[in-house]
Amino acid sequence: MKITKAVIPAAGLGTRVLPATKVMPKEMLPIVDKPAIQFIVEEAANSGITDILIITNRGKGFIEDHFDKAPVLEGILERDKKEELLSSIKDLDKLANIHYVRQIETKGLGHAISKARMFAGNEPFAVLYGDDVVVGGEKPATQELIEAYGTYGKGVIGIKPVTRQEIVNYSCVKVDPIRDNIYKCTDMIEKPQRDEDIFSLYSILGRCVLPPEIFDILDTTPPGAKNEIQLTDAMCVLAKNHGMTAVEYTGTRYDIGNKLGIMKAATEIGINHPEIGKDFVAYLKEFVKTL
Ligand code: UTP
Repeated sequence: MKITKAVIPAAGLGTRVLPATKVMPKEMLPIVDKPAIQFIVEEAANSGITDILIITNRGKGFIEDHFDKAPVLEGILERDKKEELLSSIKDLDKLANIHYVRQIETKGLGHAISKARMFAGNEPFAVLYGDDVVVGGEKPATQELIEAYGTYGKGVIGIKPVTRQEIVNYSCVKVDPIRDNIYKCTDMIEKPQRDEDIFSLYSILGRCVLPPEIFDILDTTPPGAKNEIQLTDAMCVLAKNHGMTAVEYTGTRYDIGNKLGIMKAATEIGINHPEIGKDFVAYLKEFVKTL
């Protein structure tokens, strides 16, 4: 079955980036000149996704307006023959059909995903976490996961290695190699605290493809780490009962939900930016001499 639907949860409180996220959703924070969520919607569209559900809870207007037409601004840019600027905003509404639903209470990522039941219907769907931007790689990360779903017929998680210090704040997965960057996943845990729960240093980072069975599992998933309904806890049931596939996607992932991640994204994407990249590299080379 062709996977054409994706869900982007963007209803978190973004407390790690306060005060910037007091009013502005973290997903709208710019990486140089593009909001993080635009990178994510573009990745989905480049992976064959035609319909996207964005889960919001506040600041909804910012995200909706960004993917809408801006007739006054477009008119001015057209009049002034600022074609490049015009093309950077003009077709954002054509990337995909974008739908919105509110997660009224912030009860965790798993709770947010459960709001997509009607949207997904009986089809498998991709999930792109709203604060994880993935760039580069052989193919868009979501496409790599969708291809693995097509080959193995099971739910897929996108994984990357992290450090022993980091894994206690992330999820941890038990994996057995299948081939190259593809693994069988049979167990996982969110925010592992005991040594025996560290199955590997692989963590689920920002992407998955899920079968519709996940919704019934989510309905009976109790609050877990941070007293939130964790998607990892529901996927753990899926992995144990049906098996899952893990793909170490080839792109580079930036966590724009924390301050250091935002700086890394701005720096690494900034040095390749067609307009300012060269000047930025020159500036950085001089600046590091002063450190
Ligand atoms: P995070 O746990 O990183 O988001 O969730 P957060 O709650 O905003 O983080 P803090 O406050 O800085 O610790 C990962 C993704 O899931 C979404 C977030 O928006 C982010 O894209 N999310 C999280 C929801 O949509 N709803 C929730 O209840 C929690």
